[in-house]
Amino acid sequence: MRADAHDASWEVPVRSGRGTYPVLIQPGLRHRLPELLVAHAPAHRYAVICDANVEALYGRETLEACRDAGLVADMFSFPAGEAYKTREQWSVLTDRLLDAGLGRDAAIVAVGGGVTGDLAGFVAATFMRGIPVVQVPTSLVGMVDASVGGKTGVDLPAGKNLVGVFHPPRVVVMDPETVATLPERERSEGLAEAVKHGAIADAAYFEELARESGALLAGDPGATARAVARSVQIKAGVVSEDEHEAGLRQILNFGHTYGHALEAACSYRIGHGTAVAAGMVLEARLGERAGVTEAGTARRLEEVLRTYGLGKVPPLPEGPGSVLERLTWDKKRRAGAVRFVLLERIGAVAGPEWSRSLSEDLVAAVLNEVPGRE
Ligand SMILES: NC(=O)c1ccc[n+]([C@@H]2O[C@H](COP(=O)([O-])OP(=O)(O)OC[C@H]3O[C@@H](n4cnc5c(N)ncnc54)[C@H](O)[C@@H]3O)[C@@H](O)[C@H]2O)c1
Ligand SMILES: [Zn+2]
Repeated sequence: MRADAHDASWEVPVRSGRGTYPVLIQPGLRHRLPELLVAHAPAHRYAVICDANVEALYGRETLEACRDAGLVADMFSFPAGEAYKTREQWSVLTDRLLDAGLGRDAAIVAVGGGVTGDLAGFVAATFMRGIPVVQVPTSLVGMVDASVGGKTGVDLPAGKNLVGVFHPPRVVVMDPETVATLPERERSEGLAEAVKHGAIADAAYFEELARESGALLAGDPGATARAVARSVQIKAGVVSEDEHEAGLRQILNFGHTYGHALEAACSYRIGHGTAVAAGMVLEARLGERAGVTEAGTARRLEEVLRTYGLGKVPPLPEGPGSVLERLTWDKKRRAGAVRFVLLERIGAVAGPEWSRSLSEDLVAAVLNEVPGRE
């Protein structure tokens, strides 16, 4: 990672099967997007894809800046929300690109949150068998997680992200100033994954997140830039080693085994960050009970997550049994055991394998001791 102390800018390289691309992080960087497009993704035409919220906040100004710089650019927006990350919206967007006369010499600029990144990335991956995409994440989830690693795709009625493909971007342009317009709850949801990065890879970063929660929740651009840069460096380090989740990339799933089951048991009425934060606490308790995780780790995770308004297991409408059922369901689909990523301590995942299966009794016991359940 290159960091420039004077103008607080970072450039983090990410290796992928198709070469290395840079993630650029700097407050105000969105204003330099046209020159970055020319440098990293030269194209005859640009399709800016945004959801309706981000179109109004940043999309229109981006389009105008591109046109002012002499680029041929058009806006293709779609309604905001996870409900639109679908095959239907993929087909609407690809039809509109075709109708507008875009071809192989075009590039897509995905400006928005993780939904836009995944959907626009999937459009780019498939349109004319693949055209370049530039990711311009505007949400914290987009910055700390979704825009790094090249995963694109859409949800199906049967589950999230079930259809998709790896399509690494040419460049990722992050302007931490944009998180100031996110609702505070969206910021805390996104910061759950940042805490995860500290927990799995960097104890000093974890403690920095503990100290900076006030500034980060308020959307302070300097604090956000530093945290995003460190999270991106950690995620980039992992996906550069293991793009396709064969080994090391699994560590990014810390908190996600219980987390996904909690989301499903709550019928997706809780945010992903809320679920993963609670999942991290449960998985730390699991690790402590299994004698793998250093004692006190779960408590420290809980303390830090609490400063972000996270880490509590949400009320379970059908009790802890429903969470266990979802874990079993997951196991059937993978034709194997439910696997957990366990910490050795804050800042390090327990090896030598990156994930392990544990006895169902232990997994159930941790859920059964969740306080406040009915
Ligand atoms: N590809 C990956 O590796 C990866 C990783 C993590 C998450 N994801 C995906 O990301 C999605 C979640 O991302 P998300 O939370 O950003 O959702 P999102 O894209 O729906 O954004 C959340 C909300 O914030 C709005 N928004 C975005 N930026 C804003 C800004 N700067 N100011 C004000 N409002 C803004 C959006 O319009 C939306 O209403 C999920 O679909 C998830 O599957 C993908
Ligand atoms: Zn996640």
